[in-house]
Amino acid sequence: MKVLVVGGGGREHALAWKIGQSSRVDRVFVAPGNAGTALEQDGSVENVDIADSDIPALLEFAKQNEVGLTVIGPEVPLAAGAVDAFSAAGLRAFGPSQQAAELEASKVFCKNLLRHADVAQADFHTFDDPGKARLFLRDREDVPVVVKADGLAAGKGVIVCDNCEEALAAIERIAGSGVTGKTGEFGAAGSQLLIEERLVGQEVSILAITDGRTIFAMPAAQDHKPAHDGDHGPNTGGMGAYSPTPLVTEEIMRTVEERFLVPTVHQMKRSRRPFRGVLYAGLMITKQGIKVLEYNVRFGDPECQPLMMRLQSDLVDVLEATVDGRLDEIKPMRWDPRPAVCVVMASEGYPGSYTKGHPIRGLDEAAKLPDVKVFHAGTSIWDGQPVSHGGRVLGVTALGDTISQAKLQAYTAVKCIRWDGAWCRKDISDKALA
Ligand code: AMP
Ligand code: GLY
Repeated sequence: MKVLVVGGGGREHALAWKIGQSSRVDRVFVAPGNAGTALEQDGSVENVDIADSDIPALLEFAKQNEVGLTVIGPEVPLAAGAVDAFSAAGLRAFGPSQQAAELEASKVFCKNLLRHADVAQADFHTFDDPGKARLFLRDREDVPVVVKADGLAAGKGVIVCDNCEEALAAIERIAGSGVTGKTGEFGAAGSQLLIEERLVGQEVSILAITDGRTIFAMPAAQDHKPAHDGDHGPNTGGMGAYSPTPLVTEEIMRTVEERFLVPTVHQMKRSRRPFRGVLYAGLMITKQGIKVLEYNVRFGDPECQPLMMRLQSDLVDVLEATVDGRLDEIKPMRWDPRPAVCVVMASEGYPGSYTKGHPIRGLDEAAKLPDVKVFHAGTSIWDGQPVSHGGRVLGVTALGDTISQAKLQAYTAVKCIRWDGAWCRKDISDKALA
């Protein structure tokens, strides 16, 4: 079978690599892919020069090339209806429908759905008028809040505020001043905003695959969103991840399945938006219990990288059974008991502005280390050589008998790799060791 993976980040490299290992797959296309997918060893993976948002071109490519399964990586094409377009054309695509993707594409929709399903979350208020949001804050003085844009904003639409002044500035950034026609920096995504109670605790990611009836929860992972060690600095797309995390005990995992995943999937069905695909719960473990921060409707990036490193089952069997609505007929996913740690290497300046095109050296040396896989994210090929092409450039991932050994091995591989301005966090997975 031929499989098309849509997207060009570290998540998609990890998915394409894992899909390529399936005995049932003879070709993997990645649109648009990156240098890592272009250089995948045995040549079974091939990049296709189509943007991940160009749904008509993706559909045409899948038809022309007799693609048996398409896997959509990022949220933007899912929210734009990629899976619906493929289904309407009689093609199989893994991921939620446009209506189900609202769970990530509209935070207001998600919060209201969770309220109906009685799923624990931060208290919230929604506003479509920034003036009313400002008035609301004035009455509350300096209660810590989080201000969020309703729609997709590439992970930048969430502003965690320490005081009222910061919250007022956040409202202005998201929704503009309230003067007619003047929008904030996220455009229409900020036409509704939320003010949420600010929660304190440890964040964990629990991803599950579901066909709308059966739910396979994957082992818990932990992302590292702030740019610098010790969780300082601005938020990023994620500077590293590891799995499993000892913060999620078996009891917590059971609670998450019973009180979060099952009621959410049921409520989606009751709302006539049956959910098929990856349901990613971003959770906070607080002193008052576990609460949802957000749901995503896709694999996390970089959480996908350590998860794919640990997955022992054939991923294609699971993806196909999900698309066909027969997850109950297949065996639960099997996982390598060894932990995996993924360290993101980034461009100088990220998450702010950065330059591109720096040749990346030492990849071959890193690849020779046992239990290491270097997943590419923002890379491309120039003159036959991999060069940096994005903010998050590589996800250097390693397995180890313990988390400390996986961490040591990942950082040993990181030391082999160099380019102008390369940097990474030095403390990925330390929260597990604390
Ligand atoms: P989200 O995109 O909603 O997951 O938010 C991005 C990040 O903002 C999360 O990973 C948290 O670190 C932080 N965050 C979001 N909501 C809250 C909240 N209610 N309390 C504290 N931190 C939050
Ligand atoms: N790792 C966070 C995300 O994928 O949204």
